[in-house]
Amino acid sequence: MPLVDIRQMAAEAAAESVGLGAFNVVLLEFAYAQVQAAESVNRPVILQLSQNAIAYHGGRLAPLGKALLSLAEEATVPVAVHLDHAEDVDLCRAAVDLGFNSVMYDGSHLPDDENRETTARVVEFCHAANVAVEAELGEVGGKNGVHDPSARTDPQDAAQFVTDTGVDLLAVAVGSSHAMTTRGAVLDTDLIRDIRDAVPVPLVLHGSSGVPDDGMVAAIEAGMTKINVSTHLNVGFTGVVRDILNGDETVVDPRKYVGPGRDQVRDEVARLLNLYARR
Ligand code: G3H
Ligand code: ZN
Repeated sequence: MPLVDIRQMAAEAAAESVGLGAFNVVLLEFAYAQVQAAESVNRPVILQLSQNAIAYHGGRLAPLGKALLSLAEEATVPVAVHLDHAEDVDLCRAAVDLGFNSVMYDGSHLPDDENRETTARVVEFCHAANVAVEAELGEVGGKNGVHDPSARTDPQDAAQFVTDTGVDLLAVAVGSSHAMTTRGAVLDTDLIRDIRDAVPVPLVLHGSSGVPDDGMVAAIEAGMTKINVSTHLNVGFTGVVRDILNGDETVVDPRKYVGPGRDQVRDEVARLLNLYARR
């Protein structure tokens, strides 16, 4: 089916108090797995490609980006294709030109005024192309490899940020930290509720890999809508690949270990999508 607008997906999910799974694609296999999983549980899914992942793929957006758009078109469930953590405004423009229907401009590392000003500029050209924009207020830790769950977004400031910039979704800092390989993060669910009540757009949780299942269900009930997961899938994928390679030194065909890794990602994404839908 054609790409589905993330704003529509998020509004529906928020109205139902369920979460919307957004999974990072580091290799094409991850995207296959994510779409297959979404189809198997009949849930929408967001495929996201980060500026970092694009750098890994030689700084080229189009090869993997076009593959994601093609997978989305062939999918039997609603799919959005999202540029994640873009700090480069030109990359946001390139993603819009290629056909992505959602962009995260990440100016959270910038001085506050500059973050607002640049985000508003990105919103202007994205909205002109009917592309949704997510931004981040209150930098979620861990992007530089240092875990820091201490950042917090102020609810009134978040509301003002949405007014100043016109963003469609807002990533907020509520206790998670990026790139955790264990699931011990404790989220501030009271703060999530306060931000949800103050802010007119759906909220996004970054660094979701560190959040245990029960904490995630509570966060969704409190008002989190788009749930971004990356590292947790990498942990599962790599664990399966490592076991196979450690168990058989004669294996040389990558399909013999990448394939099972891909299937592990598929099964975990399906499980998470059901958890986010609270079923
Ligand atoms: O934008 C992507 C997410 O915030 C992923 O974070 O690797 O900690 O799950 P994570
Ligand atoms: Zn993130």
